[in-house]
Order: sequence, then C-alpha cells, then structure tokens
Amino acid sequence: MATLEIKDLHVSVTADEVEKEILSGVNLTINAGETHAIMGPNGSGKSTLSYAIAGHPKYTVTSGQILLDGEDVLEMSVDERARAGLFLAMQYPVEVPGVSMSNFLRTAATAVRGEAPKLRTWVKEVKTAMSDLDIDPAFAERSVNEGFSGGEKKRHEILQLGLLQPKIAILDETDSGLDVDALRVVSEGVNRYRASGEAGVMLITHYTRILNYIKPDFVHVFAGGKIVESGGPELADQLESEGYVRFTGKREEAVAQ
Ligand SMILES: Nc1ncnc2c1ncn2[C@@H]1O[C@H](COP(=O)(O)OP(=O)(O)O)[C@@H](O)[C@H]1O
Ligand SMILES: [Mg+2]
Repeated sequence: MATLEIKDLHVSVTADEVEKEILSGVNLTINAGETHAIMGPNGSGKSTLSYAIAGHPKYTVTSGQILLDGEDVLEMSVDERARAGLFLAMQYPVEVPGVSMSNFLRTAATAVRGEAPKLRTWVKEVKTAMSDLDIDPAFAERSVNEGFSGGEKKRHEILQLGLLQPKIAILDETDSGLDVDALRVVSEGVNRYRASGEAGVMLITHYTRILNYIKPDFVHVFAGGKIVESGGPELADQLESEGYVRFTGKREEAVAQ
C-alpha cells in the first residue's frame, strides 16, 4: 500500500531573474485508500505543489522532502516518477500536435506497466474506458488535446488515470470548466479508479461542487503557500458558506459554484 509524504516543502520559481518562494513549508501525508481535498484561493500555490511533485523543471525545491513509499521522489526524473506510480492531471493539459491520442496512451501504458499491452486486449480496454467517459471513439486518432475543449481535455486526463492506474493521483482543478453532466461523468471516472481502495488521491479544487461527487476523507485549506487548516468533509461545508476570507483576510465570492 502506497504512501506519499510531503515534508516541510519549500518551492521557488524564477521569473524575470527574480526568485520568488511560492511554497513555504507544506506538510502532507497521503496513504493508499485516502482522498485529500486541497482547497484554496487562486494564486495560493496549489498548482505549484502539483508541479513540484510531478517534477516540472520550472519549480525548484529549495528545501524539504517528497517521499513515495520511503523513496526520494526529488531524486527521480519526471518519467521515473510516473513509473513509480505518481500521476498528475494538470489544470491546463498541454496540446501535443502530431501525436495521436491512441499512440500516446499506448506509449504511456507501456512505460508504466513495463511491457507493451497485448494489442487485442488493449484495443478493447481503451474502447471501454472511452465509452465509460462518453468520449467519441474518433478522438483516438486526434492529436493529444489539440483543439479539445476544456471539458474534453479533462475527460482525457481521467481516461489516462483509468488506464494507468497510478498509486497516487494528483487531480488539479479537474472540475474547472465542466458543466454538470461532464462533472458527473468525470467524477464517476475518478470514483471507479478509487474503487480498488488502493488509490491515494490529492484532489485540488477551488470550489466545493466536485466534493458532492467525490467524497474526500480529509479537507485541507491551502493559503499563502502552505496548509493552514485540516479537517474532515465538514471543513468544505464551512468554506462553502464562509469563503476563504478567514484565511486570506481578503473577501472573495463564496466558494460554492
Ligand atoms: N511559472 C511561474 N512563473 C512565475 N510565477 C509563477 C509561476 N507559477 C506560479 N507562479 C506564481 O505562484 C503563485 C501561485 O500560483 P499557482 O501555484 O498557480 O496557484 P493556484 O494553483 O493556487 O492558483 C502565483 O502568484 C503565480 O503567479
Ligand atoms: Mg492552479
């Protein structure tokens, strides 16, 4: 059973030759079978946390640790992290012109599983996974994310999640830009992935709406580059009615959507 441990993580980015600290001491442990919602205002560093775990080169870990089953994730390359069982569904999935979705999925599955999936079972597996997410089979031949709508990109992130079955999944604002039907379909995809009971999920979200479909075990409030409060699902209800003002000192619209 997997455990992701984040210990006193500090992360900076350098923009216009100025180094700025974005994460200032994040502590979080996610065990297999647990879903942790990370909720916070815009600009609090939620995506930075997901990029730092995935190994994005722009985000420099200046101190602290990330361990997956005791192994030092920070020593691993991006693809080693994926093979070790970490998965990131990005807030803004990138377009990869010239690479078909079907080639991309097969290459990713081969890398993560350590051998190429048998063609006949693979085709069926992908078809089923696509139909579960209401994805038109024609998408298999389209370039990765190219010209996809926001909602189509999010569905394809969850398609990858289902096929790759990572130990730990980080879902960064997977709910953003989805209408209520798409939100349900995508949430069902996440819940199928969770059904094994062995998945650890970090569900990053600004709004509480998705938590009606994907029930978290823990809710953490993220503000100013770190976790400032942790609790159970009741904390999300409190945020829905009060917003983040208690944590930021700034009033923004209530977090319900
Ligand atoms: N690549 C980058 N270059 C410069 N600033 C960045 C970069 N990535 C993030 N930031 C800054 O870090 C802060 C946190 O951003 P982000 O992690 O995207 O927050 P969130 O996902 O919570 O909205 C913001 O002030 C943002 O402008
Ligand atoms: Mg973000």
